[in-house]
Amino acid sequence: MNKIRVNRIAGALGAEIEGVDLSQDLGNEVFDGIHQAFLDHQAIFFRNQTITHEQHKNFARRFGTLNIHPYVKGMDGHPEIMRVVKEPDDKVNFGGGWHSDMSFLEEPALGSLLYAKEVPPYGGDTLWANQYLAYETLSDGMKKMLGELKAIHTAKGEYSERGHSAQKRSSMEVKVAGDDVPSYEHPVVRTHPETGRKALYVNMAFTEKFVGMTRRESLPLLKFLFDHCTQEGFTCRFRWSANTLAFWDNRCTQHFALNDYHGHRRHMERVTVNGDRPF
Ligand code: SIN
Repeated sequence: MNKIRVNRIAGALGAEIEGVDLSQDLGNEVFDGIHQAFLDHQAIFFRNQTITHEQHKNFARRFGTLNIHPYVKGMDGHPEIMRVVKEPDDKVNFGGGWHSDMSFLEEPALGSLLYAKEVPPYGGDTLWANQYLAYETLSDGMKKMLGELKAIHTAKGEYSERGHSAQKRSSMEVKVAGDDVPSYEHPVVRTHPETGRKALYVNMAFTEKFVGMTRRESLPLLKFLFDHCTQEGFTCRFRWSANTLAFWDNRCTQHFALNDYHGHRRHMERVTVNGDRPF
């Protein structure tokens, strides 16, 4: 019998899953329950999990192949695991702006699995925003227009010398993107390959402009969409505890890591599952 319990944490998206021990082999029935909860709630959270690096990767592998980040150095011996660490004296955090992971790739991430090793005594929450809702709440006219547009995504801004992601943090090694950094075209409205639902797919970190338009021409509409797609009513906010694993769907969410715990350490480990080319 499938004994997992799924408790929603907000009206828009997000659910805590109980009754699962991720250090054990998951039978197909439990796995199917988790997979369904992931599709239904878009960001799912498992508290009180004690897992090794191998168990973290093996759980992620059930959803697809693992990504090796092109700019952030992985852990020694585990290149697929990226440490996301902010030390007490670091000023900038990682992921501190709304984004969908790796949308700058030709085949952006399906999902990310972030495991909390050490959390600050307060702050350091992460927010997610539901991009199905962002699409569904637009007018028919806007949906029609956006349905015909593609946008250019690139790591150029974020991972350039002055970009937020490339800033110095004492315990993370991040490579600065060169001038030859590629960019890829993705539809502004993508269809989720598993649920068939449509989601808005532009984000402030990596979406540069619309295809066939200049950046200046694109910005007014992009700014409207960036504000629209992250409005409070589409979000959930998660308060971390050590040993929690979060798993979110980058195909229909964006997220934002709050940087409000200066003087404290936060240490997370992320495994990212490769996805398909958006359509
Ligand atoms: C990320 O964007 O992968 C980091 C999220 C977080 O640290 O909460």
